[in-house]
Amino acid sequence: MGKLTLLSLLTASVAVIPMFAETVHVSTPKSSLILDAVKGEPLKFVYYGSALGDNDIKNITSTGGNTFNAYPVYGLWPEKEAAMSAVHADGNMTLDMAVADVKTMKEANGAEVTTVTMTDKVYPFYIDVNYRTYPGSDVIETWTVTSHDEKKPVKLTRFMSGYLPIRRSDVHVSQLYGSWANEGKVEEAPLPHNLKVIKNKDGARNSHTSHAEVMMSLDGKAQEQTGRVIGAALCYGGNYKLMFDTDDSDYHHFFAGINEENSSYNLKKGEKFETPALALTYSEEGLGGASRNFHKWGRDYRLANGDKLRKVLLNSWEGVYFDINEAGMTQMMKDIADMGGELFVMDDGWFGVKYPRNNDSTSLGDWTVDTTKLPHGIKGLCNTADGLGIKFGIWIEPEMTNSKSELYEKHPEYIVKAPNRDAVEGRGGTQLVLDLANPKVQDLVFNVVDTLMTNYPEIDYIKWDSNAPIMNHGSQYQTADNQSHLYIDYHKGLEKTLQRIREKYPDLTIQACASGGGRANWGILPYFDEFWVSDNTDALQRIYMQWGTSYFFPAIAMASHISASPNHQTNRIVPLKYRTDVAMSGRLGMEIQPKNMTDEEKEQTRKAIADYKKIRPIVQQGDIYRLLSPYDHKGAASLMYVSPDKKDAVYYWWKTEQFVNQQLPRVTMAGLDPDKLYTVTELNRVDNEPLPYEGKTFTGRFLMSNGLEMPLSHNVDWNKRNDYASRVLMLHSN
Ligand code: GLA
Repeated sequence: MGKLTLLSLLTASVAVIPMFAETVHVSTPKSSLILDAVKGEPLKFVYYGSALGDNDIKNITSTGGNTFNAYPVYGLWPEKEAAMSAVHADGNMTLDMAVADVKTMKEANGAEVTTVTMTDKVYPFYIDVNYRTYPGSDVIETWTVTSHDEKKPVKLTRFMSGYLPIRRSDVHVSQLYGSWANEGKVEEAPLPHNLKVIKNKDGARNSHTSHAEVMMSLDGKAQEQTGRVIGAALCYGGNYKLMFDTDDSDYHHFFAGINEENSSYNLKKGEKFETPALALTYSEEGLGGASRNFHKWGRDYRLANGDKLRKVLLNSWEGVYFDINEAGMTQMMKDIADMGGELFVMDDGWFGVKYPRNNDSTSLGDWTVDTTKLPHGIKGLCNTADGLGIKFGIWIEPEMTNSKSELYEKHPEYIVKAPNRDAVEGRGGTQLVLDLANPKVQDLVFNVVDTLMTNYPEIDYIKWDSNAPIMNHGSQYQTADNQSHLYIDYHKGLEKTLQRIREKYPDLTIQACASGGGRANWGILPYFDEFWVSDNTDALQRIYMQWGTSYFFPAIAMASHISASPNHQTNRIVPLKYRTDVAMSGRLGMEIQPKNMTDEEKEQTRKAIADYKKIRPIVQQGDIYRLLSPYDHKGAASLMYVSPDKKDAVYYWWKTEQFVNQQLPRVTMAGLDPDKLYTVTELNRVDNEPLPYEGKTFTGRFLMSNGLEMPLSHNVDWNKRNDYASRVLMLHSN
């Protein structure tokens, strides 16, 4: 039996058209990706869109339109952009790939992987193009594995994860952009002619400025609940390039993968080069539908512990910064325990013996507790936490060192730096990046976590930070020939290390932090439970940042903390009610010195934490419906989460501007069951009187077609009035 015939037996969804031609159907509940895999011919892309049945699949190639190679390679038509380019051992710069084999196999978690193997027509050079689907998920992951049997290394000069032709119409692309403390801002624009590139070259982190994810609305300006949207997320923590090439055809050509600009790769005979996955989703329920697809796939299959609810925590950073001492930590632990929190995280400043970590210019790498600050060590703090009935967590930045550290004194060869040049130093004027391409450094980083966890198995949570880009391109570990591997091998090394950590400590909660939101990407999230959205904790600005971040990432992964007022980054004075109402729309935590809170504020927070525990499953496991965008500047923003069974929902409304007698739109809800009766309960109420609809019931139909009026301001005593207003409503049906 030929392999191609075998394939049709293996995959129920595969239909065979002419002899030797294979229509490969990669299907999810609501989408289809169709390829034409004819043996000896290039693999052709046929279709990506709503789910197709046998009839339309059979006739699809008769519908006209251009056909494109599903994974275009460089060489025979050099004027076109390609997903892969390579220089063969003999100097030949061309590739000419043809289908040799198609296979499908099941993975342990029920996922199905379809692999199309292509070989070069002349050279022993092979590319496997893979597509993975998961039960109940509308996301398709695609990636490639390249190898060869040529006598000498082949130099890979471009290695995209995937390619997708997008039929021109009025395609708008939404992307995230920003900066440190201003991450995750949304920008939407129609695709221009020629080239649009979204890229990153930081090396270690990759989501402060732009993001490796996009939404493509196929029908003009994207809508939240309607319209055809393709979402794409490159699952990678390193340098990326997303590229839309709009040429003279009827199509935009979308490519996404590792950015090749800092990297070429000398692939040895028999070695495999695997690209990160590009996750694609198609939805006809607008941006919101695509987001919900990503969130569900993420929680079910990608995010570490995506099925477990997250604890309410207090992090010490904005409360005390580097001023770590035992009395202070004990006081903070008592305060968060007293307010109903479940976890305390001691941030930066607890370590360093020869060089105590009193500021950001020393000690990274010296992960030994400073007993002058903490006489009873970590153990003492764990015991205190335990006595208070809360868990204990700790901050580390294991990929880094400082030139002023014992680690650097012992192992200057561990750092990233070009040979023959002085190191370039980052944060604090002394920070250096460890070369994770080096297996000894991989062991060292693993041991930072392993030693902590072995000595203090009580540790429940680690905040894993990364506060420097790769500086001074070069590796002291790699050979002269392979200096161009650094950026890629850094992330291979990081991933290998994280895999080891996760194998040994699957239940440990680990936060990805990178100077705030530098590591919001699906490449690292299999090893992390959540990420720090931004070092900016200002509630008003967070509405914008969390809105954008929610395009691709679920609330369960978005750490969102109540902090002090005036805010430390923006100096904005924001009432506790508003700060709480924003923080409660993500993974709630606190980032404040509770000692400076009044008793009334503590009581307000105690109630909010208790209420958050009630809505936590809805926020962290529910479906998001974004209702009124802050980017539309209508004076307010609103979103809601709905439980999968649609029995419960939480509705958020935040005023974003303050003018007297302003007219704000009434927000209609979404995602509810039209026939269910929902009882409305306001959470975090500060008003003297309840809302007129408090305790009343409404059908989902009414709430979705009419909505509820939100008063412009809070009904409070004169001395409590301020320029903010926000609401959190719980909706419950039996
Ligand atoms: C980074 C993080 C902060 C904090 C500091 C500690 O900036 O983003 O949250 O942990 O490091 O130095």
